[in-house]
Amino acid sequence: MTAQLIDGNALSKQLRAEVATRAAALTAQGVKPGLAVVLVGDNQASQVYVRNKVKACEDAGMHSVLEKYDGALTEAELLARVDALNNDPSIHGILVQLPLPQHIDAHKVIEAIAPEKDVDGFHVASAGALMVGQDGFKPCTPYGCMKMLEFIGVDPKGKHAVVIGRSNIVGKPMAMLLLQAHATVTVCHSATPDLAHFTRQADIVVAAVGKRNVLTRDMVKPGAVVIDVGMNRNDDGKLCGDVDFDGVREVAGWITPVPGGVGPMTITMLLVNTIESAERAAA
Ligand code: GUN
Repeated sequence: MTAQLIDGNALSKQLRAEVATRAAALTAQGVKPGLAVVLVGDNQASQVYVRNKVKACEDAGMHSVLEKYDGALTEAELLARVDALNNDPSIHGILVQLPLPQHIDAHKVIEAIAPEKDVDGFHVASAGALMVGQDGFKPCTPYGCMKMLEFIGVDPKGKHAVVIGRSNIVGKPMAMLLLQAHATVTVCHSATPDLAHFTRQADIVVAAVGKRNVLTRDMVKPGAVVIDVGMNRNDDGKLCGDVDFDGVREVAGWITPVPGGVGPMTITMLLVNTIESAERAAA
């Protein structure tokens, strides 16, 4: 059996077209949806991410502001910028790119973002809302993974989902979203002995560790859905995920490629959250 590919580019294209339609409708009402992206320092990967986010906004007919600061910006100065963006009616979403320089407390900065503009879904209020099933912004990567399951017609209800990784950005919210969708959820992490014992039982596996070959062929139940959130480089410098793609695709039912799987979905869901925020502000 060779797994079917879950095409994140195709799904993104469809969802971004829907966002563009909604953005045009709002703009016609006099409310142009706006996203502010704040970057501090010269982290190379972050530079690429923020550029892609701003471009995606523009392609969808949304207003975007990129605020770039050098690494010497103080925490107080950054907090003042966040405050100004909170009070700027042309901005419906605020994203402070992580990681921040060491001298800035990232938690403090994220908590300073108004929850109604927290389109990253990283604020404690957003995390709490997700935990108790209230309205709030969902973190973009796990939200994108849920959309991918929907896209291929896999309902998590009654399924065993195994999430590998427990980060605040992916693992924990992913587990919550799957639980909300009535899956039985197991969260595995670096201190889990015998990871394969759990993954072999899984109907859905989400790998979000940031390490190559965390999931290999022998660890996967035939027919399982495998979602690879990892973004790593192999020895040849080529982009690869956490999953041994060539091996696992021989047993899985569905698998996301890297690149072209989860990656484009993260930015897509950022656009979805931003348009949602603008629609709420305009209502
Ligand atoms: N750094 C890596 N991924 C992300 C993300 O999704 N949002 C923010 N703000 N920073 C990141």
